[in-house]
Order: sequence, then structure tokens, then C-alpha cells
Amino acid sequence: MTKPIEGFSKLSKEEKIHWIATNYTDNSQETVTTLKQYWNTNEQLQKLHDEFIENTISNYYLPLGIAPNFLINDELLAIPMVIEESSVVAAASKAAKFWLNKGGFKAEVLSTEKIGQVHFIFKGEPEKLDTFFKFIKPKLIGESKEITKNMEKRGGGISSIELRNLSHKLDHYYQLHCVFETLDAMGANFINSCLEQFAKTLKSEATKYAPFTKEEKNIEVVMSILSNYVPNCVVKAEVSCLVDDLKINDTTSPLEFAQKMVQAVNIAKVEPHRAVTHNKGIMNGIDAVILATGNDFRAIEAGVHAYAAKDGSYTSLTHASIENNIFKFWIEIPLALGTVGGLTGLHPLVKLAFKILQKPSAKELMQIVAVAGLAQNFAAISSLVTTGIQEGHMKMHLLNILNQLGATDAEKKVIVNHFKTNVVSHSAVVDLFNSLKK
Ligand code: MEV
Repeated sequence: MTKPIEGFSKLSKEEKIHWIATNYTDNSQETVTTLKQYWNTNEQLQKLHDEFIENTISNYYLPLGIAPNFLINDELLAIPMVIEESSVVAAASKAAKFWLNKGGFKAEVLSTEKIGQVHFIFKGEPEKLDTFFKFIKPKLIGESKEITKNMEKRGGGISSIELRNLSHKLDHYYQLHCVFETLDAMGANFINSCLEQFAKTLKSEATKYAPFTKEEKNIEVVMSILSNYVPNCVVKAEVSCLVDDLKINDTTSPLEFAQKMVQAVNIAKVEPHRAVTHNKGIMNGIDAVILATGNDFRAIEAGVHAYAAKDGSYTSLTHASIENNIFKFWIEIPLALGTVGGLTGLHPLVKLAFKILQKPSAKELMQIVAVAGLAQNFAAISSLVTTGIQEGHMKMHLLNILNQLGATDAEKKVIVNHFKTNVVSHSAVVDLFNSLKK
């Protein structure tokens, strides 16, 4: 058995590779070759990527694709998407094109509040804590001025600090529930720095507060951290058109299609198993843009799913209606995003993604991302309620199967051509491939 290693992070990249290759793979030469194959020949660029995280040994490629023809608030955009799933970019592009001549997507930011909390234990009288909090509130704000002054110059900063008594949920548990405006920054560092300063002020002021008993003076701060649940950092995106304009194919009437779309959304509203998959389809579009623009997709995922369950049961993030012969399809979703800070100014492809998107502000990026999610959902459920998902899915997956089989370009051409008019299945592809080989 391999022994634990001390000081792995201090080894050079070559040493790390040697260690992993010899201890955890059966063909160490092949491992080294595979890892180095993905190193960038531009050493400066490689170093930049090496330093994003600890213990980097190589780069992990994902395709960067473009979904063109997105008309959003009357601006025509091409959306960069980073994703491994074969059908996602094609589906987004298809939905964008479908809505292009129907007025496109309309999006608006409803709110931009970010949240952070100082969680602490106070063993004493809640009323006394209340009075103490009112007394120190100006100090909480004053002592964080060094951190907030630049953000304030730009129009952001601390919006509110509230004392919350949660001792009915957990003995002696209270929090400072704080709201921030971080403008174009996602704001994680800003918020966390403010919170840690609040925690220091809270603790030190308590020790000096005369009305407190010895025990009350000893406030125990458990942790200070932003919350990825941002139900008041919400964007809405929608499409709408006359039902008669909803011609999706030659076999489904516009009205039947509109009704099926509404029914599919209604099912996702009431049935959590379906809602999770429905929302997963939305996240296909959202995560792909989040990744392309260097934002934190785990934060977005966590916040979005909590939002989908905010009324006590997990439900659809999109909505659909038919009223007065108008079909409307929309999404309301919390997205705490940044267009400055973090990876946004560092990763060359992220910088390029922002250029392609015409240098959006954080609010504009919220709109673009919400539209990508809505488009993806429209594409997924329109396939589901008409042809079924597999037709398009397997067509896109065809190249993956052919690459696994090691097909040549000439073989790919013949096989792709054949499946333009035939149903793709794994076994049908393998059979045709084998027959060509013969
Ligand atoms: C697959 O990645 C996403 C779908 O399952 C979404 C959905 O079912 O709505 C097609």
C-alpha cells in the first residue's frame, strides 16, 4: 500500500507527477505522457494556470462553444459556453434561433442584494443583547471603513446589519445578518472581510460593555461567512409570442405545442422528481455560461436549488402560461455574479468571453445567464413533448461514440450521413462501423 506523503505541496510539478504516476498508476510513463500532453507550450500561460490552485499537475480541457443568435433586450449576442455534454450548445443555439424572429428574450434584474452572516453564541438576556447591538451598530460600520471605502466610492457597500435571535432553533444562537451591495464584483472577499471585522468588533465591544455580566461579555463567534442563498439577488428572463406563431415542427399544431409546454412546466411545479431534472436542464445552460465567464458554479448551483425549494417543496424554476392567445415562458432565478475580480481578469479565455459578450456589467451578465437557462429549458422540454429527447441527444452523441470506436474521418463522414435519416443507437452505430471495417 502507498504510504501517506508529507509536504506534497512543496514538491516541484515534475516531482508531484512522478509521485502520483509511480504510486497510483500502473504505467507511470504513460501517465507522465498523458499529463504533459496537456501542458501549454507557452510557459507563462502555463504558470498562470498552475497558480490558480495548489498541486497543479496538468490542465483539464473542456470544450468552449458558442451559441449564436441570442437577441436579449434587443441586443444580438453570441454566448460562450463551456460544457462537456454534447447536445447543450446545439440546443441553446436552436432555442435562440427559434425566438430570434419573435422579439427575442427580455430580461430584467429585480434585485441585487448579497448576504453574509456572523454566527455567534450569547449566553445571557436577549433584551440586553438587543440594546448592546443598537449601541455598537455604528461601530460595526465605522470599524470596517478601511474595507468598505473603495466599494462605497463606487456606490456599493454595507446596506444593513440586523441582529437575529435564533435561540429558539439552537440554544443561545444569534447572528448578525448583513446585506451588501457589491456592484460588478461577486463580492465574496469583500463580504467575508467585512464580516470578519464585524466579528472582531462584536467580541471586543462585548468585553467592554458595562451592563453585561462576565458570562455575557464572553460572546463566542462561531464563524463569519457569506451566504450563497441570495433570494434577493434575482433576475427574470422571458419570451412570449402569439400561440399561432409557435410552429415547432410539421406534426404538432402550435396550440397543441403550447399546451404541452405549459403542462410539462406544471408537472415540474408539482412533482419534485421531475422538477430536479427539469431544473438540471436549466443548469446545463447556466453552468456553461458561468464556467465560460469564470464565475463560481458551485455557489450558483447551491443558491439556485435552495431557491427552488424556498416555499417548502422543490419546484420548477421556470413558468409557462397561455393567456389571451399569448404563450409566455419565463424564469426567475437568483444569480450572484461578478464581472470583475476573481478569475475574470486572469484567465485569458474568460477575458475573451467577456469581450464576446460585449463587456457586460454584473447585472447584464445576470440577464444573459438567466436567458441561457431559459433557452436551455425551452429546448429540452420542446424536444421532450414532441420527438423525445433521444433523437437530438443521440445525434450529438454520435461523434463521441465514433471517437470511442476510433473511427477515421472518412468513416465518420459515411456514418454521420447514414444517421441523418436513421435512428441513432449505440448498437446501430457499432454495427455500421463494423460493417464498414469489413
Ligand atoms: C439532460 O442533460 C437535461 C434534460 O434531462 C432536461 C429535462 O429533462 O428537462 C433533457
